[in-house]
Amino acid sequence: MPHKAVFFNLEPWAREYISGNEKLKNAGVAIGFEDHVLDVSHMPADVGFDIAGIFVDSTLKKDVIGYLPKLKHIAALSTGFDHVDLPACAAAGVTVSTVPSYGENTVAEYAFGLILALSRKICDTHCRVREEGSFSLDGLRGFDLAGKTIGVVGTGHIGQHAVRIAKGFGMNVTAYDPYPNEKFAEEQGLKYLTLNDLLAASDIITLHVPYMPATHHLINKDNIGMVKKGAYLINTARGAVVETDALVSALKSGQLGGAGLDVLEEEGMVKDELNALVGGKAGEHDLKTVLEDHVLIDMPNVLITPHNAFNTKEAFQRILDTTIDNIVAFVNGQPANLVK
Ligand code: NAI
Repeated sequence: MPHKAVFFNLEPWAREYISGNEKLKNAGVAIGFEDHVLDVSHMPADVGFDIAGIFVDSTLKKDVIGYLPKLKHIAALSTGFDHVDLPACAAAGVTVSTVPSYGENTVAEYAFGLILALSRKICDTHCRVREEGSFSLDGLRGFDLAGKTIGVVGTGHIGQHAVRIAKGFGMNVTAYDPYPNEKFAEEQGLKYLTLNDLLAASDIITLHVPYMPATHHLINKDNIGMVKKGAYLINTARGAVVETDALVSALKSGQLGGAGLDVLEEEGMVKDELNALVGGKAGEHDLKTVLEDHVLIDMPNVLITPHNAFNTKEAFQRILDTTIDNIVAFVNGQPANLVK
């Protein structure tokens, strides 16, 4: 059976790379591109494809999967897959592949970008010079990382890089993971703690867990009070790993000194509010959380970026290459990197 892969919302250079790829050509895969994301508000007119290449900005719920009669495989151009309804895929006989480890250094480096931006007030400093033409240091004093304690939550691919980088800064490193990597801990002289002990001990907490039922609101109103007063929370994992209500309250009360967030609960809605409202989909979202996201955006001690941690040229190249390999493996009947 001939195969057709359609990729959604890819930049022109990535389209060019995929179009010219010999592996896909040799595997006999026809290629198509759609200018927009794939979700319930953006259904493609042409549904004659069996493979969909999607990024985290597409949301494949049951209704979308049901709309695509030929779909057999979703090639996610990401590590996380919480934007894909796995039970609906299983019911429809659709398999899902991901890119397991393109961004271990990339995302960890970005987490430290957020940490340094907060610890040294780099955004405020830059804005003062550029927007006010002022070189005054008033209010710009930060704090050292050396000697501070960082708590790394999740010591998989990204978390392990975060540990190594933190060591380079001369930080004390603790970690929490329900599946501790004892060999890595020994190599790094790393101490695993319970989550509550980590929260109490850390000046900076950085989250590197996948989003799944067990990590939904991992940081929540019941445990955020355990956080060391004035600590900083960094989230480059997924928005819903943190209960937004609890986060806003802790930032307001000073329990948290600040936060660096590359991901937000309801970030899809925040990105495209107009479309959700006009498309009549606003009711599907938690509007209180959307409102709280706006409160966070306005807080002076919070730094928010638009799910950008993965976004380096090297990482994107690795994403494309692994996705192409995943598609070829699927077509050859030996699927790789499947979500189980
Ligand atoms: P990984 O699968 O290598 O590591 C995840 C770690 O979390 C594992 O060690 C696992 O044991 C641990 N874990 C599982 N359940 C846990 C729990 N309840 N509490 C604490 N730890 C738990 O994943 P990797 O590659 O390190 O990526 C982590 C996440 O980072 C991804 O799932 C994705 O959501 C996010 N990510 C974000 C990006 C961005 O652009 N902001 C880019 C890439 C990944």
